[in-house]
Amino acid sequence: MTAANAIMQTYNRQALAFVRGEGCYLLDSEGRRYLDAVAGVAVNSLGHSHPGFISAIRDQVGTLVHTSNLYDVPLQNTLGALLCEKSGMQQAFFCNSGAESIEAAIKLARRFGFNKGIKLPTILVMEGAFHGRTMGALTATHSSTYQEGFSPLLDGFLRIPYNDVAAVKAAIADNPNLVAILVEPVQGESGIRIPAPTYLNELRRLCDTHDMLLMLDEVQTGNGRTGNWFACQHNSIVPDVLATAKGLGNGFPIGACLAAGKAAHIFQAGLHGSTFGGSPLACAAGLAVYKALQDENLCANASSMGNYLLQGLQQALQGCTGVVEIRGLGLMIGVELDQPCSKLRDKARTLGLLVNIAGGNVIRLVPPLILNKQDADCIITVVNAVVREFYHGR
Ligand SMILES: Cc1ncc(COP(=O)(O)O)c(C=O)c1O
Repeated sequence: MTAANAIMQTYNRQALAFVRGEGCYLLDSEGRRYLDAVAGVAVNSLGHSHPGFISAIRDQVGTLVHTSNLYDVPLQNTLGALLCEKSGMQQAFFCNSGAESIEAAIKLARRFGFNKGIKLPTILVMEGAFHGRTMGALTATHSSTYQEGFSPLLDGFLRIPYNDVAAVKAAIADNPNLVAILVEPVQGESGIRIPAPTYLNELRRLCDTHDMLLMLDEVQTGNGRTGNWFACQHNSIVPDVLATAKGLGNGFPIGACLAAGKAAHIFQAGLHGSTFGGSPLACAAGLAVYKALQDENLCANASSMGNYLLQGLQQALQGCTGVVEIRGLGLMIGVELDQPCSKLRDKARTLGLLVNIAGGNVIRLVPPLILNKQDADCIITVVNAVVREFYHGR
């Protein structure tokens, strides 16, 4: 048995392993450098080997790694207050991953319904949604591939098309048991799908009118990725529940479920918990990420580099057959092609660029938020070359 066979084969891994990272670049064992437009799937917001991040977690490892949520955790209080300040939310629950932050949101919605005397509280979820692989998050996710063979999934979810306000209104009119809407501000895994500019505002209004919770999955869009601290700030709204993870820890596992308004104070002692969630070490990582985001103006950089990359790609690929749309918000960019394109990922890699494919036919670009113009130009050059070769053999 080879060492790799000791690992459950849950991923179709590429035959490539990295030994080191520097800024926006990863290095393999032969010393080859790759520009990393995957960033651990929208995780390494500060890039690799960020000095401030390294020294913060090194210091914390030498001081205190883990205590328990049975005691006060001062760094958790500090990070919770900071996330609330940046997002406009009121309270934080810390966990270890995106899926766990979604599980906390689902429990909040159910308890919200329970408190209102609703026996079968139901959450509205979207076509194309991805919320994670745990049973609640998996039920909320829309993918027969991910769900097949894992029945029974959970009760209490109703699915409607994404970016369709009329469908939300119809669902509300038909279902007195609806307690919440769970939605991604931009759908990441299904191919960087960006809703109409007023979609979230409409959802906010409908949730207010019908006493429902607006629950945003900002696991991928949060923490500066789209050019604001959180994507909902492009719409100037505050949700009732905001789930986040990924970039919050820059690679250290940490997630948070934030609550405000009618969702705040639902969880009382004993109603939810996590052994590891919000440890001193995890919170030191989150605080170091936010310090760098602030000190280095990385939200603004995500916004300006995102626009630069988007426009550059649109210009380079203008009129190219097979390109359906190039869209993005901040440094969350998708190049949609008219057919499955996983081969493109491998070709880009041979040219020194790491990308991944979302929704089967969308090149997803989610580089570190520290990206500069030179690196953006390199992404444009390689993506342009591989797309043109894919269609024209040039
Ligand atoms: C929008 C969204 N929600 C939830 C998750 C699940 O996060 P995790 O893999 O950390 O459990 C992901 C992961 O890709 C995601 O993109």
